[in-house]
Amino acid sequence: TITCVIMAGGKGERFWPKSRTNLPKQFLNISGNKSMIQQSIERLELLIDISQIFIVTNELYAELLKAQIPHLPHDNIIIEPIGRNTAPCIGLASIIIEERFPNSTMVVIPSDHIIQNDEGFINILKTAAQVAGTNCNLVTLGIQPTYPETGYGYIESAGDPQLVNELNVYKVSTFVEKPDYETAEAYLTAGNFYWNSGIFVWRTEVIRAYIKELMPEMHDILETMKHAFADADRNEIIAAEFGKMPDQSIDYGIMEKARDIYVIPCLFGWDDVGSWTALERINELDEHGNVIKGNILNIDTKRCIIESNGKLIATLGIEDLIVVDTEDVTLICTKDKAQEVKLLLKELRMQK
Ligand code: GDD
Ligand code: MG
Repeated sequence: TITCVIMAGGKGERFWPKSRTNLPKQFLNISGNKSMIQQSIERLELLIDISQIFIVTNELYAELLKAQIPHLPHDNIIIEPIGRNTAPCIGLASIIIEERFPNSTMVVIPSDHIIQNDEGFINILKTAAQVAGTNCNLVTLGIQPTYPETGYGYIESAGDPQLVNELNVYKVSTFVEKPDYETAEAYLTAGNFYWNSGIFVWRTEVIRAYIKELMPEMHDILETMKHAFADADRNEIIAAEFGKMPDQSIDYGIMEKARDIYVIPCLFGWDDVGSWTALERINELDEHGNVIKGNILNIDTKRCIIESNGKLIATLGIEDLIVVDTEDVTLICTKDKAQEVKLLLKELRMQK
């Protein structure tokens, strides 16, 4: 069987003020007329039944999730009392899935990505599940890099590809999470590096063995929880134990140190919608390079991202700005600072 874990606990802070702590971006309609998590589920349902899809999220979002995905069985919602990054999220999901679907091959995906070609995506998942299904392989989905992004992981492929279902599958020689700018530039020039899409495929047993080897403290807590699940309420156990796990991403905790990693280069039109400037990549631009949404009047305005919440936004003679109006906050920011929008939030919290 194939199972899937959707990681949906992120706060989406770089999408402030549209994305809020109580309504982060995965629950918003950033493209199309459904939220990103609704789109993710719909896409996965082309491959597996909803009963095989698990979502890990913060308790803040449990109700939101139930409202947006009413047909998701409540047992498939895994609730974290506190955010501990992706390694504990995946670890917890793996012990819960292992119980319900022994020996499954598990697809791990983020909740806040845009994927354009559903069919291409499903084909790659099927192939990845085949490569991961009978052995100890960790399979990653690689994206052809186009610029030296320092916010991603980089996957180095080694040697010639194997052909599986007409797709190239490479052995990975190194996995480097969030390199510095110079290193990212060198990887881009080298030509055999891919961006890590953040989508992983492996058997639950295999990831559990890696956690045991590389994150032994976390393994012990998972074992404690797993045994306690047998005779107590799952949510109570998670509430008591989860926070003891280290704050660590799967990329730093496991992927950088693991062996037997494979990468499948993907061409399904991927974007991680990391910050406001992503809208330039996923929307059509007007003739002056602007992305505009809502009630907007602009003259002599170039390469701006402007989103109104009903009220008219009128611009004249501005360039390379992000202007986002919401009910209670208006953001005005230069595009080159898009990654730093979270600084504003930090400052706001300090003032409170
Ligand atoms: N449930 C849960 N709990 N989900 C979480 C948590 C958590 O504590 N932290 C993050 N997530 C979810 C986010 O909502 C997102 O969907 C996904 O896990 C990845 O987390 P990010 O925080 O967005 O990671 P990143 O962007 O810094 O880096 C990852 O993604 C890149 C591609 O987008 C890494 O895997 C990189 O290697 C990769 O290139
Ligand atoms: Mg991200």
